Amino acid sequence: MPQNRRSVFTLAVMDSVRTATASRTPLRALATEAVHAGRDDLARQGLHAPPIDLSTTYPSYDSRGEAARIDAFAATGAEPQGAPVYGRLGNPTVARFETALARLENTEAAVAFASGMAALTAVLLVRASLGLRHVVAVRPLYGCSDHLLTAGLLGTEVTWTDPAGVADALRPDTGLVLVESPANPTLAEIDLRALAHSCGSVPLLADNTFATPVLQRPAEQGARLVLHSATKYLGGHGDVMAGVVACDEEFAGQLRQIRFATGGVLHPLAGYLLLRGLSTLPVRVRAASTTAAELAGRLAADPRVARVHYPRIGGAMVAFEVEGDPHEVIGRVRLITPAVSLGSVDTLIQHPASISHRIVPADDRRGAGVSDRLLRLSVGLEDVEDLWADLDTALQETSVVTTPRSS
Ligand SMILES: Cc1ncc(COP(=O)(O)O)c(C=O)c1O
Repeated sequence: MPQNRRSVFTLAVMDSVRTATASRTPLRALATEAVHAGRDDLARQGLHAPPIDLSTTYPSYDSRGEAARIDAFAATGAEPQGAPVYGRLGNPTVARFETALARLENTEAAVAFASGMAALTAVLLVRASLGLRHVVAVRPLYGCSDHLLTAGLLGTEVTWTDPAGVADALRPDTGLVLVESPANPTLAEIDLRALAHSCGSVPLLADNTFATPVLQRPAEQGARLVLHSATKYLGGHGDVMAGVVACDEEFAGQLRQIRFATGGVLHPLAGYLLLRGLSTLPVRVRAASTTAAELAGRLAADPRVARVHYPRIGGAMVAFEVEGDPHEVIGRVRLITPAVSLGSVDTLIQHPASISHRIVPADDRRGAGVSDRLLRLSVGLEDVEDLWADLDTALQETSVVTTPRSS
């Protein structure tokens, strides 16, 4: 039988990557995991940088064996044993990122998708496919997540409540409880351990995009599913769009089956960039958080600022309500980039009521605490004094808005 060198190589990679995930040894220090997880086999293979496998398909001269691997995948969604089959079932480079993220979040597995929204869609479809179409959610959520639930685009029905109301909102057909903490954009925090208790047997999904595993690991507090828009801090440089769900192997299998059937796969190059991004995640998040805490303090002491939101657990996001016109602040920044998204090495600012949460009906948005005067700042790695100088200038001479504050 002709020997295919790349299949053998890939087989070894997939097996070692899987072994590292399955035998979840106690977590090494986060900084160590960040640079080694998903790469444990490299030195044995004589490699330093991880290889990028761009194959969409994988040759196999044993079609009976391949059929058996496909049957096994159809049964449980477990990654095919041995050589990969087809890019939509799994990719070795993406698997490295999944392994690494699972180790950072301290879960059995992780499943990557083309975007954060594709990841959330897959979770909702897994539950809907079991007839569990009801979702209980706490506002605020990222605007598009809110919209996906409110519009019922996937045939789901949502009950909005606060954390204290979650237990009472559960129904026999409730498939999911969904929260963000800290939430986008108000940075409101939820006691995830207490909430997980209220959820009983219903899976709790915690969107950990803002905190990252550097600041909190929701699975250790009882969340069954941990979602990231990996587009943000995990990638970290504003050049990758991706999503990922960290969870137990059983749920991961269901997610892989949905991913296979619906096609929201992550491109291997994005998987490579994400793995690279993870290696500096702890350093980036800690450095940006130090700057963000300093800026939050200065904004809180500034008479041009009505209110500052900064989470107890810290982080690199700051939200603040201005006394003047928020649109003028956006128009005046020069070093800071006025742009949606967050989690990059450079600092971004945006007006949630106009951009990230525009799609949420105004009353719902305001009811969730998203004031029309709120600005959301994603603090990057620039020098704090340069950032403050830019903010200080942008806040100067803003017209005082005469309309009442909306929340
Ligand atoms: C908290 C949060 N979750 C999910 C998403 C959706 O992620 P993506 O844009 O990668 O689809 C975003 C996007 O901004 C977000 O901020």
